[in-house]
Amino acid sequence: MSGLSESVQGRILEWYDAEARELPWRNNPYPWPVLVSEFVLQQTQMVVGLTHWHRMMERFPTIESMASCPVEDVLEAWQGCGYYARARNLHALAVEIASRNPPCLPSNPQGLQDLPGIGPYTAAAVSSIAFDYPIAAVDGNIRRIYARTLAEEYPKDRDIQAWADESLYRSRPGDWNQALMELGATICTPRAPSCERCPAEQVCLALQTNEPTKFPAPRKRRSKKIEGHALVIRTPSGVYLTQRNGSRLGGLWGVPITEDPEGLRLLCENHHVSEHRSVGRVRHAFSHRDWNLQVWVAEQSDGGVDPNSVPISRLDERILEAAGWIRA
Ligand code: ADE
Repeated sequence: MSGLSESVQGRILEWYDAEARELPWRNNPYPWPVLVSEFVLQQTQMVVGLTHWHRMMERFPTIESMASCPVEDVLEAWQGCGYYARARNLHALAVEIASRNPPCLPSNPQGLQDLPGIGPYTAAAVSSIAFDYPIAAVDGNIRRIYARTLAEEYPKDRDIQAWADESLYRSRPGDWNQALMELGATICTPRAPSCERCPAEQVCLALQTNEPTKFPAPRKRRSKKIEGHALVIRTPSGVYLTQRNGSRLGGLWGVPITEDPEGLRLLCENHHVSEHRSVGRVRHAFSHRDWNLQVWVAEQSDGGVDPNSVPISRLDERILEAAGWIRA
């Protein structure tokens, strides 16, 4: 598999040097800010991700500052970033590194991949960006650039990796990886690519077909549809909330939910609710699940927690918003 030629590499890097977005970790790519950026950006688009990155860095400027906090503090700062298992992994990683002597992140991808929450992409991204380790980081952007450059509708992971390895600009691996991510995020976008501004336009086979967006073909989404109910029990001190279990939302607080469309009666019985009213529906898609929940409100005279005082997921925020709650 041959990769991009030297002249195309040169054009891409020239474009990146001139046009890249100013991202706060790019000028001084210290390992911890870079690692946090990769954890946050796996979940969100750059604009939203940046806000979360700033919040995480303000709260946890060093590995030690995170390691010395309980995981709940990390979950709280992570709110809105989705997929809470990543926040828990980030905390476990910080604790692990802080226990080492010296307490430093490994500079090579193998060492990084042994840490919680780090897969091949994150290991390659962090080691190349923060430590100049020559390894290609393959994410969805690079998959799309590969598929379009070679007009492949169904690119195979093995071929993408081989192409990315061959294409790597080895003397500036961090900049190179970020240049391709940047190209995929700003020019070679999924639905409306700006081919006229693309530094790799001359070698793009997809462009020659006049239908560049046909490549790659969409992957089949296998998201599970969940029709259920959420019960917001209001009390004088707040709302009835419990801590959720499971890898995605575990540790966060939320309202009682049933994933059974026929499960409302049991939900009410379990929470001693006799009267309730519907306030609408919340649809929320995340990690292979498409929630469609009918939201019900009931009142009780005791118990309850102020939702502003505990970490809650975006799903629960939206359920509470449907019930009239406004975040303080
Ligand atoms: N996505 C994840 N990491 C990124 C980075 N360093 N630059 C641009 N996009 C990214």
